[in-house]
Amino acid sequence: MSRKPLIVGNWKMFKTGAEAKATARQLVCLIEDRKKVEILICPPFTALSVVSSVLQGSLVQLGAQNVHWGDDGAFTGEVSAHMLLECGCRYVIVGHSERRQIFLESDAIINSKLHKVMEKGLVPILCVGESIEEREADQVEKAIVTQLEKGTRELNLKQRTNIVIAYEPVWAIGTGKTATPQIVQEVHRILRTCLADNFSWKVADQIRILYGGSVKAENVTELMSEEDIDGVLVGGGSLDAQAFARIVEAC
Ligand code: PGA
Repeated sequence: MSRKPLIVGNWKMFKTGAEAKATARQLVCLIEDRKKVEILICPPFTALSVVSSVLQGSLVQLGAQNVHWGDDGAFTGEVSAHMLLECGCRYVIVGHSERRQIFLESDAIINSKLHKVMEKGLVPILCVGESIEEREADQVEKAIVTQLEKGTRELNLKQRTNIVIAYEPVWAIGTGKTATPQIVQEVHRILRTCLADNFSWKVADQIRILYGGSVKAENVTELMSEEDIDGVLVGGGSLDAQAFARIVEAC
């Protein structure tokens, strides 16, 4: 089964509109002809529109880092899927561990977001991952399978093939401690098997499972050589256009 690799840059709460525009411009020049992989950047909300105009006609796509589960309403500080579409987004990161831990997003909330995102025609990137305590207590499988099953609850047949999963062990995010390719492959296999059990192997084989956590040009090739690793979600390593372009190149 060939799954087109997806390389995602998550800029988190970094870059003003002007800074984001400059980085996006640089990136578009650097990765003009990379057609074998799909490339996506997720700037902060305030930079989406300006980055969208820079990306017009390029191979770099636009995504958001978060979304609300409703259509519209009195939700101070929130942004809807419809608004993201209007900004030119195609993907949305849902359930990042920083959203789960700092902003206390539950699996139920994450599932509602997933449904809304798909209803509007955007592709969700559902993040799952264990904490260091869970890993040390041998609870990795339980933690990730629970997040995956609760997060993807009640998706219809068409929606099932249209999601991306990102495995991001919390202990590897922003720490410089990348999980080894063997650890990641093992977890991705568990996730794919879980998708097959809940959906079917035909569907599970089509779903891209990305890895995220201290990815850089030096470790990405080895990670991508594993059978079930279909791309990467890059935080810190995506902020500099040249560094991110090197990661894309290495893929
Ligand atoms: P990192 O972040 O690459 O800085 O570890 C990854 C992420 O949080 O998506």
